[in-house]
Amino acid sequence: MSSHEPLHISSRCIHGGQHPEPMTGAVMPPIFTSSTFVQKSPGVHSGFEYSRSHNATRFAFERCLANLESSGLDEETERTCGGFAFASGLAAIATALELLDAGDTIVCMDDVYGGTNRLLNRVRARTQALKIIVVDMSDLKALEQAITQHKPKMVWTETPSNPMLKLVDLAAVAALSKAAGAISVADNTFATPILQRPLELGLDIVMHSTTKYVGGHSDTVGGALITGRSDLAERLRFLQNAIGSVMGPFDAYLALRGLKTLALRMERHCQSALRIATHLESHPKVARVLYPGLKSHPHFAVAQKQMRLGTTPAGGGMITIELKGGIAESRRFLETVHVFALAESLGGVESLIEHPAIMTHASVPAEQRAQLGISDSLVRLSVGIEEVNDLIADLNRGLDAI
Ligand SMILES: Cc1ncc(COP(=O)(O)O)c(C=O)c1O
Repeated sequence: MSSHEPLHISSRCIHGGQHPEPMTGAVMPPIFTSSTFVQKSPGVHSGFEYSRSHNATRFAFERCLANLESSGLDEETERTCGGFAFASGLAAIATALELLDAGDTIVCMDDVYGGTNRLLNRVRARTQALKIIVVDMSDLKALEQAITQHKPKMVWTETPSNPMLKLVDLAAVAALSKAAGAISVADNTFATPILQRPLELGLDIVMHSTTKYVGGHSDTVGGALITGRSDLAERLRFLQNAIGSVMGPFDAYLALRGLKTLALRMERHCQSALRIATHLESHPKVARVLYPGLKSHPHFAVAQKQMRLGTTPAGGGMITIELKGGIAESRRFLETVHVFALAESLGGVESLIEHPAIMTHASVPAEQRAQLGISDSLVRLSVGIEEVNDLIADLNRGLDAI
């Protein structure tokens, strides 16, 4: 089904880039487990040679995600085009970084997932001699200055950012990067294509940890890159196969199955998160609530412009709060809640809660964590799709224990 048809985004979750399986007419793509495919004569085959390069289950997932992110390349052939799926979000990031040459400069958002920070600073700075310039891109003047001064080959942003939920104006990032000839990449894991589509705003590449909202059920680890530029699609297709950290067919099946309900889930995540954020904002044991859907959010105006459920502004399913107290109070709170599971990750149907300084962002150097505001009293919530009153009661119980 073509991305040019006037289907709404929730219908594209189900039909985007999908066709009945040609041999049997199966409505859902089978899990193709074969590692290799028979050839009639050397080099004469049906387009499928070896499963790292060609796997029809993975292709079905890649086409759907490419369609949702408005790649425009998702229908170019029966095979994958603008979308590329990987074994994890970090495998996707690592492959995207291979678009750079040794010694290149990358300008990176200051508040990114801890693993992105670790890969850049503790691996690629050494193995690829990348020069990494860290900027708070919610300050566009600072971004413009960094781009002018350092002439990067790539600009890497994340919005809403993890865990401080800062927002970056994607259209501005795209324009500044383009003017400087840099490839712009947006990690869209938190917002998903339901709330924001960076390629439509001019970005070159979108990245996802499909482990999160895309898969949506905390039962698969994966990642993806999507581009609308055919030159970059060609290079990413080469790199995906050359490096080989591809998503396996079982994970592709689960990720595609999850994707079908993404629009429905995001609606519920957003509704419940707004209720919870509003409740926590007036709770006496909570010092600060960061949620893009609250007027008090420092980048509320960007959220209103950029993150939407249909035509209605929406803040997503992630909330970061600062408790009154320190590490002891945080521990007591996190040990008391039980509908919210104390676990890393996010974006599943079940609510999760975590302590970024000790858990997801422990790999970020302490000094940088302090600069970003990732303190001992900071807690990150991934609001699931349970009954919202159960979630509020659970948080109240935890806060009462402090
Ligand atoms: C925003 C963001 N990007 C990238 C990643 C890395 O993805 P994965 O854990 O699938 O490797 C994560 C994981 O938490 C994330 O939250």
